[in-house]
Amino acid sequence: MKVLIKNGTIVTAESEFIADLLLVDGKIDQVGNLTEVEADQVYEAKGKFVLPGGVDQHVHFSFEFNGAKVRGFETSNAAAVGGTTTVIEFVNQDKGRGLIETIDDYRKENAEGIAMVDYAFHGVVTDPSEQLFEDIPKLAEAGYPTVKLFMAYKGMFFHSDDDAIAKCMELGKEAGITMMVHAENADLIDMLQKKCIENGQVEPFYHAVSRPPIVETEATERAINIARLTDAPLYVVHVTTKGAVDAIKRAQAEGMRVFGETCTHYLLLDKSDLAKENFEGAKYVCSPALREEDDRNYLWQSIQKGWLNAVSSDHCGFDWAKQKHMGIDDFRNIPNGAPGMENRLGLLWTYGVETGKLTRSELVNLYATNPAKINGIDYCKGSLEIGKDADVVIYDPSGEYSISVESSLQGTDYNSFEGMTQKGRVEAVFLRGKQIVKDGKYTGHQGQGEFVHGKAFGLAYR
Ligand code: URP
Ligand code: ZN
Ligand code: ZN
Repeated sequence: MKVLIKNGTIVTAESEFIADLLLVDGKIDQVGNLTEVEADQVYEAKGKFVLPGGVDQHVHFSFEFNGAKVRGFETSNAAAVGGTTTVIEFVNQDKGRGLIETIDDYRKENAEGIAMVDYAFHGVVTDPSEQLFEDIPKLAEAGYPTVKLFMAYKGMFFHSDDDAIAKCMELGKEAGITMMVHAENADLIDMLQKKCIENGQVEPFYHAVSRPPIVETEATERAINIARLTDAPLYVVHVTTKGAVDAIKRAQAEGMRVFGETCTHYLLLDKSDLAKENFEGAKYVCSPALREEDDRNYLWQSIQKGWLNAVSSDHCGFDWAKQKHMGIDDFRNIPNGAPGMENRLGLLWTYGVETGKLTRSELVNLYATNPAKINGIDYCKGSLEIGKDADVVIYDPSGEYSISVESSLQGTDYNSFEGMTQKGRVEAVFLRGKQIVKDGKYTGHQGQGEFVHGKAFGLAYR
């Protein structure tokens, strides 16, 4: 099967140029002036931008909070219409089992035959047992070269203490496994939450009050110190504060292999959203909490300057009417997390590229190329290089749209970015050479997504 995408502006992480792109049997085959080439499908992309399919390295299709579970891979067509062709999902280790068998089983039951875009996995430590430690050196061979530990969420089954982080880092560094952390000080949050509740401060806004920037900054610094102690690489997920970014910058200046991402909602939403009336604020309960203008501005600067490496969605498909309402009397019971995989590219385009904050190449780097490297899948994903998977997005920069839950495929009853303007749209998407989005609509089918085997030695080892 040959697909010829003609006359588009091809955007890579380094540059952009007008050219044709030939996809053959699911791979990028040629780039250049291909007027003589015949193809089974010809796509006219004049005036449009041709981008590599996005890699969203932070999505949750199985996260549970106090018994409430997010929407799963059956909603991954939402990633596709948003220009993401690979998602990387966090899988909690089953207690009493190793990570490899947990993820292998999870993959068979929850992703194979269901996923509508390609997918890879991060393991999440819940049980720092001998089984886990025996598995870490074998993770890369199994295709799961990244592991996350939650420093936050005291008392929850997925919380990890510092000794577990250190042990995992020790083992991981020998095996090309990058340890990731959700960096927030669980004890301080617990103390501040109790104080709020004692004072009758039960509304969603107090989620942010009980998780001030300092709890994230402190935990980020601590995680970096554990990485320093063990001489291991570290990847900090969803960075939101100036203090945390500065800690990462200092570590990098010392030559440490410390990296981080931020997420669309931290760039665009605000702590004040949590104060919305009639419990609407619960829609914005995610951790770390949404910040204020100073931190937001610094996050934009951080992705411009490359201090942070990627922008993810941290997509978490809880609904508001039932699941978020579990915390109507106590914000601590509101499931943490917000949907967003469908809007990542459109938002970065509109509020990054269109405002002059990001070049198109910077966007490509943050939403596709770097996340592919970080997760050891850049041998096939994240760029339009010859020989790589033909995952291609055609972005039409014309027109203005209003983001709304009405047209969303995320399967939730709200959209975190409701009413915000989006400039341009994802017009078409090809997944390994097959068109899965036409005229902005999903046209693929369940099970079309395939597992992507992550390799050892991601960005942290370059
Ligand atoms: O609030 C969030 N971010 N929920 C998803 C789980 C996590 O902490 O990443
Ligand atoms: Zn997290
Ligand atoms: Zn997350």
